Amino acid sequence: MKNFINNIPKAELHLHIEGSFEPELMFKIAQRNGIKLKYNSVEDLKKEYSFNNLQEFLDIYYEGAGVLINEQDFYDLTWAYLEKAHEQNIVHTEIFFDPQTHTERGIEFSTVINGIHKALEAGKTKLGISSKIIMCFLRHLDESEAIKTLEQALPYKDIIVAVGLDSSEVGHPPNKFERVFEKAIRKGFLTVAHAGEEGPTEYIWNSMKLLKVARIDHGIRAIEDDELMKQLATTQMPLTVCPLSNLKLKAVKKMEDLPLKVFLEKDILATVNSDDPAFFGGYINENFQAAADALALTKEDIAKLAENSFRASFLDSETKRARVNEVKEYYEKNK
Ligand code: ADE
Ligand code: ZN
Repeated sequence: MKNFINNIPKAELHLHIEGSFEPELMFKIAQRNGIKLKYNSVEDLKKEYSFNNLQEFLDIYYEGAGVLINEQDFYDLTWAYLEKAHEQNIVHTEIFFDPQTHTERGIEFSTVINGIHKALEAGKTKLGISSKIIMCFLRHLDESEAIKTLEQALPYKDIIVAVGLDSSEVGHPPNKFERVFEKAIRKGFLTVAHAGEEGPTEYIWNSMKLLKVARIDHGIRAIEDDELMKQLATTQMPLTVCPLSNLKLKAVKKMEDLPLKVFLEKDILATVNSDDPAFFGGYINENFQAAADALALTKEDIAKLAENSFRASFLDSETKRARVNEVKEYYEKNK
């Protein structure tokens, strides 16, 4: 099973580039930029990686991102993720970035996007990984800040495929961002949103109704609402599930409680992703493996999840078809 998971071609659709910041690279870049981290060593920092909820994680995540200053830093961060993705047979990735985490500290929007974009371009030519960029608004900040951020993104419309919504979910419902999403859609962006990670099912419904999302990020609390489960299946609304994240942030008590197998049984377009792999103990293959172990996933389930990752992607329909066929061929050869 381990080899089957490792070698199956797959897409990653829920990855915060700032969440792929490994402690070793964080210390290296901090030193390069003359910034003193709150922690004395990589080991001390890693000791902090124990979280009771999303907010406890976000506090450390934003602090780590604070050492990213120059375009080269964003390039190095993205390149390190791409090398890992390549090792794990990710052939397509759609990554999130949080511009406000950086612009709030006085870093230019262009510094952030150019560093990430150049690394992704190198990922295409050197590693054969195709990619898309999704810009997330921080939902704990005001709508007016999100509107400013959308305006900063307009010159980069050709390299940012979609806008999303992340950060502290509870208390920051989708309707807070209805107008900025409407404007983003008018400007030609696709939309996605984190919903139902910690927040109620109402946030999933309203992400679909008000924000017109093409995918729901996480969405695991959909399991609490039968009508919503039916709606997700009927509309084939993708869910980007992140098993280790949900476990480490205690969105589920134990991996056995993750509703991933149920989603597949109910014909919901669920996918497996790593969210913030440097913080949660694993990249995409470790996420597949952890879910497979706890939920007794079969090779057929794994192949279905890999197939779903391409179906749910923002690739063009011809490429999607070709990738889905690759997964099917892989399954037939290796089942
Ligand atoms: N930002 C980075 N990871 C996140 C997550 N799992 N939920 C919300 N915001 C995030
Ligand atoms: Zn996320």
